[in-house]
Amino acid sequence: MGIDTPPITPQQYEVLHGGGAEAAEIAKQRLSRRSFIRRSMLAVWGISATSAVAGALYMLYPNLSGGFGSVQTVGKTSEFKAAQPADFKLELAGVYHRPVARAYVMHLAVNTKFDLQGALLQSQLSSENFVKDKDGSYWISLYQKCVHLGCTVPFRDNCLSFKCPCHGSHYNVTGEYLDGPAPRSLDRFQMTIQGDNVVINTGLINNTVAHPDSTTRLIPPPAVACTA
Ligand code: FES
Repeated sequence: MGIDTPPITPQQYEVLHGGGAEAAEIAKQRLSRRSFIRRSMLAVWGISATSAVAGALYMLYPNLSGGFGSVQTVGKTSEFKAAQPADFKLELAGVYHRPVARAYVMHLAVNTKFDLQGALLQSQLSSENFVKDKDGSYWISLYQKCVHLGCTVPFRDNCLSFKCPCHGSHYNVTGEYLDGPAPRSLDRFQMTIQGDNVVINTGLINNTVAHPDSTTRLIPPPAVACTA
């Protein structure tokens, strides 16, 4: 029996110590209060320690958490209708935002005209993380974060491109840099088509696509300028 559970009643205490039943009752209550405070502190410490361990595990192993940084299935292929770059419309044709993966899924129609041909085209498609589907269409998954200072970049139907609201960096439908202060093209994730699922690995980011030039640009700039 511990110190927190007096083995005798207040009346017995009175007999033994002559302190009176009242004094014994007060002593008992003090012990109970001290015990309560100690248990509360232990509970708070336990919760804090558990949270700290969970946070550290999340930082070390984001792939296990199912959140950003993990492999995510973002929909069925049938939900992403392909289109020519000139016909893209957010959530309707060619370009789809998936906030859970912080990504845009781009689906270019099978007969999309690229500026490059042959081996140069294949090499550039590969370095920009394009995935060719069995039906001949192309997929890319672009990171929504502007590579200048990190604002989320919206797609603008009215000028068929991504235009950053913060300092104006501008990217075409394949994420290639057009103008503004961005130091490179938009980053992109590794993505795969698994059966009829569109799967994005948000833990694998390609941040190496440089400003394009005439030997690397895949898609011509949009014909319509973005107004403010
Ligand atoms: S953060 Fe996008 S242009 Fe500066």
